[in-house]
Amino acid sequence: MLLTPDQLAQYERDGFLVFPGLFSRQEIAVLRREVARLSGIESEEVVREHTGGVRTIFRVHETDGATRSAPFRALVRTPRVLRPVRQALGTDEVYVYHTKINTKPAIEGTVWQWHQDYGSWMRDGCKRPDMATFNVMMTDTNEMGGALYIIPGSHKLGRIEPFYDESTAYKFWAIPKARMIEVLKSSPPPVAVTGEAGTCVLFHCNVLHASGHNLSADDRWHIYISCNAVANAPRFGPTSRPDWVVSRNTRALPLEDDDGVLKAA
Ligand code: SIN
Ligand code: MN
Repeated sequence: MLLTPDQLAQYERDGFLVFPGLFSRQEIAVLRREVARLSGIESEEVVREHTGGVRTIFRVHETDGATRSAPFRALVRTPRVLRPVRQALGTDEVYVYHTKINTKPAIEGTVWQWHQDYGSWMRDGCKRPDMATFNVMMTDTNEMGGALYIIPGSHKLGRIEPFYDESTAYKFWAIPKARMIEVLKSSPPPVAVTGEAGTCVLFHCNVLHASGHNLSADDRWHIYISCNAVANAPRFGPTSRPDWVVSRNTRALPLEDDDGVLKAA
């Protein structure tokens, strides 16, 4: 899949694009079996809610490590994912910064506070906001189930100084309350990105996004494939975050088989 000039202009204007039905029911079934399998693994890559359910499964795209998965490895290399990411970043030399499956379990899956991804990635040493994330929904997603909200055009606000939010099971850099209220009052309304399983979203690393508690009876399974330009890879040292959140494999990803997920089943 190649983005049209109109889609690229929309990405530049809004900071995100939605692709309904990009992956088929059969492909999603393969990925869902993998999420069920990976959820049973006990390792540092699997982060749990305070109440015990799985919140996030990191690093599913490599051939090594506890959470390796052939179908997810294939997914990140499909032209449907990689081509738009390359276009958004303006280079063919892109790699996966990290993958995370946010499982947001029914009833217990908790909030992701308002944030910009680059608020964390800048601190990892990425010099430029030449980064983007490709989200694949593996369950039907609605507002009550904790859909992702995005503020259109908010990537143009530039980087907003974050604070280290320790209120959720996965601590990270979020936008302070007072600043976020100002932004919400002066911006277009946030868009709830809902859709059927197989829908995808590409978003800029400075776009403001968040999601709420899952109040529904169904888990909300999403994978976030975060990508960086090879030229923007950070330097690694003793204080770098672990490999499962800041990939040490910074080699450019090749385009592989668009049927790779089905073949890896
Ligand atoms: C994220 O922003 O990284 C995840 C948001 C979500 O899972 O809703
Ligand atoms: Mn994010």
